[in-house]
Amino acid sequence: MNDLALEFINISKSFPGVQALKEVSIQIKKADVHAIVGENGAGKSTLMKIAVGELLRDAGIIKVFGREAQIISPSDGYSCGISLIHQEFSLVSTLDIAQNIFLGRELTRGNSPFMDSNLMHKQTEEILDSLKMFRLDSHLKIGDLTVAQKQVVEIAKALSLNSKIIIMDEPTAALTLEETRRLFEVVRGLKAKGVTTLFISHRLEEIFEIADKVSILRDGELILTKQQTQLFPLIILINYGIHKIRSNLTIPGEKYPGILTNFGNKSVHHRSSVWFSIYGGKISSRNHITNSFSCFTGIY
Ligand SMILES: Nc1ncnc2c1ncn2[C@@H]1O[C@H](COP(=O)(O)OP(=O)(O)OP(=O)(O)O)[C@@H](O)[C@H]1O
Ligand SMILES: [Mg+2]
Repeated sequence: MNDLALEFINISKSFPGVQALKEVSIQIKKADVHAIVGENGAGKSTLMKIAVGELLRDAGIIKVFGREAQIISPSDGYSCGISLIHQEFSLVSTLDIAQNIFLGRELTRGNSPFMDSNLMHKQTEEILDSLKMFRLDSHLKIGDLTVAQKQVVEIAKALSLNSKIIIMDEPTAALTLEETRRLFEVVRGLKAKGVTTLFISHRLEEIFEIADKVSILRDGELILTKQQTQLFPLIILINYGIHKIRSNLTIPGEKYPGILTNFGNKSVHHRSSVWFSIYGGKISSRNHITNSFSCFTGIY
């Protein structure tokens, strides 16, 4: 059975003077949190906008839940169950949360033309309940919310549209550490419900915290897709001076047995002490690793 939520197959996109994406192929598993990372201008947002039909690709195929999807306008993204949450929110600050969530598709009383405000608030409260880390009241005005709370309203909106795939473009950029922690709780809750999250981030620490898989883009090309837990060995390889990482590098692999067998069965989840003790003297700190990684991906 196909366990993929979303597949990008050979997606290319050019803007005048720049090829933003070059035959990018990524598979995103159902209910995974899949991080897309890469330096500024790598093509992350372009790929995500293509996924929801905000931008039209020049070439390539998008499959949603195993089927080729005709995503050529934003309404196609919604009808395929994909929502993109931009950094610049699309909320109306003078309206309350429920009004925003049902903006343009207001619920009416029976067959009458009159809006059913109570029903919209009730349904909004039900969705907000599932995002309870942020304890929001559906009557709150958007203009009175913090950035993190607005983020949650956007997620609630995506859920009310029955989105099964939610894309967050640098959601934590303007959040405090505590807000980020709570947002991650929400993301874990979505995962538990089977929702797939694509998560664009510049921050390495966040990827280790929340992502199941990671895809790295550079200059419009996919460098690699790996399980998050496989990134640490990879970073350590970079420390050993293997600067040219190719997408066909396998971990563990035969190519660098001297290094890789040392990884043994150690779980990367216990990485901080385990990895550092294995390579004590060579890798002195987590920062050392982070810095090496940033040289490679441009992220920090
Ligand atoms: N609408 C557009 N018109 C022209 N060029 C564009 C447009 N959108 C993106 N680009 C270019 O395409 C390339 C990829 O941009 P994109 O916004 O996808 O990168 P990104 O990885 O999201 O970067 P950032 O981390 O800065 O958000 C860049 O060179 C950018 O200047
Ligand atoms: Mg971007």
